[in-house]
Amino acid sequence: MKPLEIADVGFTYEDGTVALKGLSMSIGKGEKVAVVGPNGAGKSTLLHLIAGFRMPFSGQVMIEGRPLDESSADDLRKHVGLLFQDPDDQIFMPTVEEDVAFGPRNLGLDDIEGRVARGMRSSGMETLAKRKTHRLSYGMKKRVAIAGILAMDPAILLLDEPTSGLDPRSRAELIGLLKEMDRTMLIATHDLEAAAEIVDKAVVLNVGMLMEGTMRELVLARDLMHEAGLELPPISKLFRVLETMGYPMDDLPVSLDEAVEQLTRVIDREGKHAHAHIHTHVHGGHEDDHKHSKAAAGERQPRDEK
Ligand SMILES: Nc1ncnc2c1ncn2[C@@H]1O[C@H](COP(=O)(O)OP(=O)(O)O)[C@@H](O)[C@H]1O
Ligand SMILES: [Mg+2]
Repeated sequence: MKPLEIADVGFTYEDGTVALKGLSMSIGKGEKVAVVGPNGAGKSTLLHLIAGFRMPFSGQVMIEGRPLDESSADDLRKHVGLLFQDPDDQIFMPTVEEDVAFGPRNLGLDDIEGRVARGMRSSGMETLAKRKTHRLSYGMKKRVAIAGILAMDPAILLLDEPTSGLDPRSRAELIGLLKEMDRTMLIATHDLEAAAEIVDKAVVLNVGMLMEGTMRELVLARDLMHEAGLELPPISKLFRVLETMGYPMDDLPVSLDEAVEQLTRVIDREGKHAHAHIHTHVHGGHEDDHKHSKAAAGERQPRDEK
Protein backbone atom coordinates (compact mmCIF):
# COMPACT_ATOMS: atom_id res chain seq x y z
CA MET A 1 0.00 0.00 0.00
CA LYS A 2 1.39 3.37 -1.03
CA PRO A 3 0.87 6.52 1.06
CA LEU A 4 -0.60 8.29 -1.96
CA GLU A 5 -2.38 7.00 -5.04
CA ILE A 6 -4.22 9.20 -7.49
CA ALA A 7 -6.34 7.65 -10.21
CA ASP A 8 -7.71 9.59 -13.18
CA VAL A 9 -8.39 12.72 -11.15
CA GLY A 10 -10.11 15.72 -12.68
CA PHE A 11 -11.01 19.05 -11.15
CA THR A 12 -12.89 22.04 -12.56
CA TYR A 13 -13.40 25.29 -10.63
CA GLU A 14 -16.86 26.81 -10.19
CA ASP A 15 -16.20 29.31 -13.00
CA GLY A 16 -15.50 26.47 -15.44
CA THR A 17 -11.67 26.58 -15.32
CA VAL A 18 -10.37 23.08 -15.86
CA ALA A 19 -7.42 22.79 -13.45
CA LEU A 20 -6.76 19.04 -13.61
CA LYS A 21 -7.74 16.36 -16.05
CA GLY A 22 -7.09 12.61 -16.13
CA LEU A 23 -4.23 12.73 -13.67
CA SER A 24 -2.88 9.45 -12.29
CA MET A 25 0.21 9.14 -10.13
CA SER A 26 1.44 7.56 -6.94
CA ILE A 27 4.11 8.08 -4.33
CA GLY A 28 5.83 5.26 -2.48
CA LYS A 29 6.68 5.36 1.20
CA GLY A 30 9.63 7.68 1.85
CA GLU A 31 9.70 8.79 -1.77
CA LYS A 32 10.20 12.46 -2.61
CA VAL A 33 8.49 13.68 -5.76
CA ALA A 34 8.44 17.09 -7.41
CA VAL A 35 5.40 18.31 -9.33
CA VAL A 36 6.69 20.81 -11.84
CA GLY A 37 4.91 22.87 -14.45
CA PRO A 38 4.16 26.45 -15.49
CA ASN A 39 1.94 28.86 -13.57
CA GLY A 40 -1.65 27.72 -13.73
CA ALA A 41 -0.65 24.09 -14.37
CA GLY A 42 -2.79 22.89 -11.48
CA LYS A 43 0.00 22.21 -8.97
CA SER A 44 -1.63 24.01 -6.05
CA THR A 45 -5.02 22.58 -6.95
CA LEU A 46 -3.51 19.09 -6.82
CA LEU A 47 -2.02 19.68 -3.37
CA HIS A 48 -5.34 21.08 -2.11
CA LEU A 49 -7.18 18.00 -3.37
CA ILE A 50 -4.73 15.66 -1.64
CA ALA A 51 -5.02 17.70 1.55
CA GLY A 52 -8.80 17.22 1.40
CA PHE A 53 -9.64 20.94 1.07
CA ARG A 54 -11.56 20.26 -2.11
CA MET A 55 -13.00 17.10 -3.59
CA PRO A 56 -12.11 15.93 -7.10
CA PHE A 57 -14.88 16.08 -9.72
CA SER A 58 -13.82 12.74 -11.11
CA GLY A 59 -11.38 9.99 -10.26
CA GLN A 60 -10.05 9.06 -6.86
CA VAL A 61 -7.43 10.10 -4.33
CA MET A 62 -6.30 7.32 -1.98
CA ILE A 63 -4.35 8.15 1.17
CA GLU A 64 -2.72 5.29 3.03
CA GLY A 65 -4.93 2.92 1.07
CA ARG A 66 -8.19 4.68 1.93
CA PRO A 67 -10.31 6.63 -0.55
CA LEU A 68 -10.58 10.32 0.23
CA ASP A 69 -14.20 11.51 0.21
CA GLU A 70 -16.50 13.82 2.19
CA SER A 71 -16.87 11.28 4.97
CA SER A 72 -13.20 10.31 5.33
CA ALA A 73 -11.69 13.77 4.75
CA ASP A 74 -11.58 14.86 8.39
CA ASP A 75 -9.80 11.70 9.42
CA LEU A 76 -7.45 11.47 6.44
CA ARG A 77 -6.40 15.10 6.86
CA LYS A 78 -4.37 13.94 9.86
CA HIS A 79 -2.15 11.98 7.50
CA VAL A 80 -1.41 14.89 5.22
CA GLY A 81 0.48 18.09 6.05
CA LEU A 82 0.35 20.99 3.59
CA LEU A 83 2.88 23.81 3.63
CA PHE A 84 1.20 26.82 2.01
CA GLN A 85 3.15 28.91 -0.42
CA ASP A 86 2.82 31.94 1.84
CA PRO A 87 3.61 31.23 5.51
CA ASP A 88 1.45 34.20 6.54
CA ASP A 89 -1.57 32.13 5.45
CA GLN A 90 -0.50 29.41 7.85
CA ILE A 91 0.84 31.12 10.95
CA PHE A 92 -1.56 32.90 13.26
CA MET A 93 -0.58 32.25 16.87
CA PRO A 94 1.47 34.90 18.73
CA THR A 95 4.52 32.79 19.60
CA VAL A 96 6.44 30.09 17.78
CA GLU A 97 5.66 27.33 20.26
CA GLU A 98 1.97 28.19 20.40
CA ASP A 99 1.79 28.15 16.65
CA VAL A 100 3.59 24.82 16.35
CA ALA A 101 1.25 23.35 18.98
CA PHE A 102 -1.89 24.62 17.23
CA GLY A 103 -2.12 21.93 14.56
CA PRO A 104 -1.70 18.86 16.77
CA ARG A 105 -4.00 20.38 19.42
CA ASN A 106 -6.65 21.13 16.81
CA LEU A 107 -6.52 17.52 15.61
CA GLY A 108 -6.88 16.32 19.19
CA LEU A 109 -3.58 14.45 19.14
CA ASP A 110 -1.79 13.28 22.28
CA ASP A 111 1.60 14.32 23.69
CA ILE A 112 1.45 17.91 22.42
CA GLU A 113 4.65 18.88 24.22
CA GLY A 114 6.66 16.03 22.71
CA ARG A 115 5.25 16.74 19.27
CA VAL A 116 6.08 20.43 19.46
CA ALA A 117 9.63 19.63 20.62
CA ARG A 118 10.15 17.14 17.78
CA GLY A 119 8.66 19.47 15.18
CA MET A 120 10.85 22.35 16.29
CA ARG A 121 13.96 20.19 16.43
CA SER A 122 13.36 18.76 12.94
CA SER A 123 13.05 22.21 11.45
CA GLY A 124 15.94 23.70 13.43
CA MET A 125 13.71 26.03 15.47
CA GLU A 126 14.29 24.71 18.98
CA THR A 127 15.93 27.87 20.32
CA LEU A 128 13.16 30.12 19.04
CA ALA A 129 10.18 28.75 20.97
CA LYS A 130 9.29 32.00 22.72
CA ARG A 131 9.79 34.29 19.75
CA LYS A 132 6.92 36.37 18.41
CA THR A 133 5.86 34.88 15.09
CA HIS A 134 4.94 38.20 13.45
CA ARG A 135 8.48 39.50 13.94
CA LEU A 136 10.19 36.57 12.23
CA SER A 137 11.73 36.78 8.79
CA TYR A 138 9.89 35.18 5.87
CA GLY A 139 12.35 32.25 5.86
CA MET A 140 11.91 31.68 9.59
CA LYS A 141 8.13 31.79 9.18
CA LYS A 142 8.40 28.99 6.63
CA ARG A 143 10.33 26.99 9.19
CA VAL A 144 7.72 27.62 11.86
CA ALA A 145 5.03 26.45 9.44
CA ILE A 146 7.05 23.31 8.68
CA ALA A 147 7.59 22.67 12.40
CA GLY A 148 3.82 22.95 12.91
CA ILE A 149 3.20 20.40 10.19
CA LEU A 150 5.87 17.99 11.45
CA ALA A 151 4.35 18.23 14.93
CA MET A 152 1.28 16.51 13.44
CA ASP A 153 3.60 13.79 12.11
CA PRO A 154 1.81 13.39 8.77
CA ALA A 155 2.46 10.40 6.53
CA ILE A 156 2.69 12.73 3.55
CA LEU A 157 4.20 16.18 3.45
CA LEU A 158 2.93 18.49 0.70
CA LEU A 159 4.93 21.62 -0.03
CA ASP A 160 3.64 24.39 -2.29
CA GLU A 161 6.52 26.35 -3.84
CA PRO A 162 8.62 26.01 -0.68
CA THR A 163 11.61 27.99 -2.00
CA SER A 164 9.67 30.93 -3.44
CA GLY A 165 10.34 34.29 -1.82
CA LEU A 166 13.31 33.08 0.21
CA ASP A 167 16.67 34.83 0.30
CA PRO A 168 19.63 32.68 -0.85
CA ARG A 169 20.71 31.61 2.63
CA SER A 170 17.18 30.66 3.77
CA ARG A 171 16.63 28.88 0.48
CA ALA A 172 19.82 26.84 0.87
CA GLU A 173 18.91 26.00 4.47
CA LEU A 174 15.42 24.91 3.53
CA ILE A 175 16.74 22.74 0.70
CA GLY A 176 19.20 21.14 3.14
CA LEU A 177 16.41 20.53 5.63
CA LEU A 178 14.09 18.88 3.10
CA LYS A 179 16.94 16.86 1.62
CA GLU A 180 17.81 15.39 5.01
CA MET A 181 14.22 14.79 6.03
CA ASP A 182 13.14 11.17 5.88
CA ARG A 183 9.50 11.55 4.90
CA THR A 184 7.16 10.99 1.96
CA MET A 185 7.00 14.31 0.13
CA LEU A 186 5.27 15.96 -2.79
CA ILE A 187 6.78 19.31 -3.72
CA ALA A 188 5.08 21.68 -6.16
CA THR A 189 7.72 23.93 -7.66
CA HIS A 190 9.22 25.46 -10.77
CA ASP A 191 12.59 25.68 -9.05
CA LEU A 192 14.24 22.72 -10.79
CA GLU A 193 17.54 23.45 -9.12
CA ALA A 194 15.99 23.00 -5.70
CA ALA A 195 13.97 19.99 -6.85
CA ALA A 196 17.10 18.29 -8.18
CA GLU A 197 18.72 18.60 -4.76
CA ILE A 198 15.75 17.17 -2.90
CA VAL A 199 13.71 14.71 -4.95
CA ASP A 200 14.21 11.40 -6.74
CA LYS A 201 11.37 11.74 -9.19
CA ALA A 202 9.56 14.48 -11.06
CA VAL A 203 6.07 14.70 -12.49
CA VAL A 204 5.52 17.35 -15.15
CA LEU A 205 2.01 18.70 -14.93
CA ASN A 206 0.00 20.92 -17.19
CA VAL A 207 -3.63 20.15 -16.35
CA GLY A 208 -2.76 16.54 -17.26
CA MET A 209 0.52 14.75 -16.77
CA LEU A 210 3.11 15.44 -19.48
CA MET A 211 5.85 13.22 -18.11
CA GLU A 212 6.99 11.23 -15.11
CA GLY A 213 10.63 10.34 -14.60
CA THR A 214 13.92 11.17 -12.93
CA MET A 215 15.11 14.76 -12.78
CA ARG A 216 17.77 13.86 -15.34
CA GLU A 217 15.21 12.43 -17.76
CA LEU A 218 13.27 15.64 -17.34
CA VAL A 219 16.15 18.03 -18.04
CA LEU A 220 17.17 15.93 -21.06
CA ALA A 221 13.68 16.26 -22.55
CA ARG A 222 14.28 19.64 -24.22
CA ASP A 223 10.99 20.01 -26.05
CA LEU A 224 9.03 19.12 -22.97
CA MET A 225 11.04 21.56 -20.84
CA HIS A 226 10.19 24.28 -23.34
CA GLU A 227 6.53 23.32 -23.50
CA ALA A 228 6.27 23.32 -19.72
CA GLY A 229 8.04 26.69 -19.43
CA LEU A 230 10.86 25.19 -17.38
CA GLU A 231 14.47 26.35 -17.21
CA LEU A 232 17.50 24.10 -16.84
CA PRO A 233 19.21 24.41 -13.46
CA PRO A 234 22.27 26.71 -13.90
CA ILE A 235 24.67 23.85 -13.17
CA SER A 236 23.17 21.80 -16.04
CA LYS A 237 23.46 24.82 -18.33
CA LEU A 238 27.14 25.15 -17.44
CA PHE A 239 27.77 21.51 -18.33
CA ARG A 240 25.99 21.94 -21.65
CA VAL A 241 28.44 24.75 -22.40
CA LEU A 242 31.41 22.66 -21.24
CA GLU A 243 30.22 19.85 -23.49
CA THR A 244 30.42 22.10 -26.55
CA MET A 245 33.99 22.91 -25.50
CA GLY A 246 34.92 19.23 -25.58
CA TYR A 247 34.37 18.29 -21.96
CA PRO A 248 33.76 14.53 -21.95
CA MET A 249 30.34 14.48 -20.27
CA ASP A 250 28.94 11.05 -19.37
CA ASP A 251 25.73 12.33 -17.88
CA LEU A 252 24.16 15.75 -17.57
CA PRO A 253 24.46 16.73 -13.89
CA VAL A 254 21.30 18.26 -12.44
CA SER A 255 22.62 19.27 -9.05
CA LEU A 256 25.81 20.67 -7.61
CA ASP A 257 26.51 17.38 -5.82
CA GLU A 258 26.22 15.44 -9.07
CA ALA A 259 28.41 17.94 -10.88
CA VAL A 260 31.15 17.69 -8.26
CA GLU A 261 30.92 13.89 -8.31
CA GLN A 262 31.21 13.79 -12.08
CA LEU A 263 34.07 16.29 -12.23
CA THR A 264 35.99 14.31 -9.62
CA ARG A 265 35.50 11.16 -11.68
CA VAL A 266 36.51 12.81 -14.94
CA ILE A 267 39.59 14.44 -13.41
CA ASP A 268 40.64 11.11 -11.87
CA ARG A 269 40.14 9.30 -15.12
CA GLU A 270 41.57 11.64 -17.65
CA GLY A 271 42.68 14.75 -15.81
CA LYS A 272 45.29 16.33 -18.02
CA HIS A 273 43.87 14.79 -21.14
CA ALA A 274 40.51 16.46 -20.60
CA HIS A 275 42.23 19.74 -19.88
CA ALA A 276 44.25 19.59 -23.10
CA HIS A 277 41.18 18.57 -25.01
CA ILE A 278 39.17 21.54 -23.76
CA HIS A 279 42.12 23.83 -24.42
CA THR A 280 42.25 22.65 -28.02
CA HIS A 281 38.56 23.32 -28.49
CA VAL A 282 38.84 26.79 -27.06
CA HIS A 283 42.09 27.84 -28.73
CA GLY A 284 42.24 25.56 -31.78
CA GLY A 285 45.36 23.71 -32.99
CA HIS A 286 46.68 20.29 -32.07
CA GLU A 287 46.66 19.01 -28.52
CA ASP A 288 50.42 18.27 -28.55
CA ASP A 289 51.20 21.90 -29.40
CA HIS A 290 49.93 23.04 -26.03
CA LYS A 291 52.77 22.23 -23.70
CA HIS A 292 51.69 24.86 -21.18
CA SER A 293 48.24 23.35 -20.96
CA LYS A 294 49.78 20.01 -20.07
CA ALA A 295 52.00 21.65 -17.50
CA ALA A 296 49.01 23.37 -15.97
CA ALA A 297 47.06 20.15 -15.96
CA GLY A 298 50.00 18.32 -14.39
CA GLU A 299 49.79 20.55 -11.32
CA ARG A 300 46.30 19.42 -10.65
CA GLN A 301 46.02 16.61 -8.18
CA PRO A 302 42.83 14.59 -7.96
CA ARG A 303 41.30 15.75 -4.73
CA ASP A 304 40.00 13.35 -2.17
CA GLU A 305 38.64 15.35 0.71
CA LYS A 306 35.78 13.16 1.79
N1 LIG B 1 -10.31 29.57 -6.85
C1 LIG B 1 -10.19 29.47 -8.17
N2 LIG B 1 -11.24 29.72 -8.99
C2 LIG B 1 -11.13 29.61 -10.33
N3 LIG B 1 -10.00 29.23 -10.96
C3 LIG B 1 -8.93 28.96 -10.19
C4 LIG B 1 -8.96 29.08 -8.77
N4 LIG B 1 -7.74 28.75 -8.30
C5 LIG B 1 -6.98 28.45 -9.36
N5 LIG B 1 -7.70 28.58 -10.50
C6 LIG B 1 -7.23 28.29 -11.88
O1 LIG B 1 -6.95 26.91 -11.96
C7 LIG B 1 -5.80 26.68 -12.73
C8 LIG B 1 -4.75 25.96 -11.90
O2 LIG B 1 -4.32 26.83 -10.87
P1 LIG B 1 -3.26 26.41 -9.76
O3 LIG B 1 -3.62 25.08 -9.24
O4 LIG B 1 -3.17 27.52 -8.79
O5 LIG B 1 -1.93 26.29 -10.64
P2 LIG B 1 -0.39 26.36 -10.20
O6 LIG B 1 -0.31 26.16 -8.73
O7 LIG B 1 0.26 25.29 -10.99
O8 LIG B 1 0.09 27.72 -10.63
C9 LIG B 1 -5.36 28.05 -13.25
O9 LIG B 1 -5.93 28.24 -14.51
C10 LIG B 1 -5.96 29.00 -12.23
O10 LIG B 1 -6.17 30.25 -12.80
MG1 LIG C 1 0.50 27.29 -7.23
